[in-house]
Amino acid sequence: MNQAIAVMDSGVGGLTVVKEILGQLPQEPVIYFGDTARAPYGSRDPEEVVRFTCEIADYLLRYQPKMIVLACNTATAVALEVIRSRVSLPVIGVIKPGARAAIKASSNGRIGVIGTEGTVRSGAYDEALREISPQLDIVSQACPELVPLVEAGDFRSSRVYDAVRRSLAPLKGRDRDCLILGCTHYPFLAGPIAEAMGHDVQLINSAEETVREIGAILSYHEKLARPADSRPKHRFLCSGDPVMFHRIAQAWLGDQLDENAFVGQVHSTC
Ligand code: DGL
Repeated sequence: MNQAIAVMDSGVGGLTVVKEILGQLPQEPVIYFGDTARAPYGSRDPEEVVRFTCEIADYLLRYQPKMIVLACNTATAVALEVIRSRVSLPVIGVIKPGARAAIKASSNGRIGVIGTEGTVRSGAYDEALREISPQLDIVSQACPELVPLVEAGDFRSSRVYDAVRRSLAPLKGRDRDCLILGCTHYPFLAGPIAEAMGHDVQLINSAEETVREIGAILSYHEKLARPADSRPKHRFLCSGDPVMFHRIAQAWLGDQLDENAFVGQVHSTC
């Protein structure tokens, strides 16, 4: 039996990373935890986000995963080192991969970052970007209106377009050639975000680079799943309404969320 990759987020946002795992590493089973009852994390105290992330990591360890992915920028910004110090498995976040992807994509070094209040306040993207390239011109913007819309399953309504336009207004005219979607919920809103920014601004979703890193780490540890005859069995757990979670997962993952996947609800404090 192949061990799973454990993936956590405050809600449905980490499904954007799961989708990439299913594409790049289709033989890998995934155990996902979305803390939908306590989302959004972005406006919470960092100590609270650290506590929630520790509770979820402890819960996921019961499934004996082979690695833990913090598919949440807010949790990565404040809890990555704490979780690494508590578990003996590889633990990765999404911020450094997102920063790498943006630097690869940018030709003028003028990068925009959007994220939750917690992520922007932490300065984690500035740090990750400047660690690679100190001369970058970085503008960051918190967009607290967006995550609740995604959690409500609203990706395309006029309310969404209005909220995206309002949230991104401070970035307009700032001559960015790429924009890091520094919250895993934002790829759900890629259409409205692209429309608001203009199609010459490249949107950077950290999922692709994160999953490349997952593959490299598993390969290094000789832990890549062996190809099997049947598709791997995935588990999706959330702490809030499982019907809404299932609806969003189905909309986002489509056929990849097969009847083989288990979707269930677990209490917030696990
Ligand atoms: N998806 C998360 C992130 O990447 C958290 C959003 C939230 O709960 O505020 O930051």
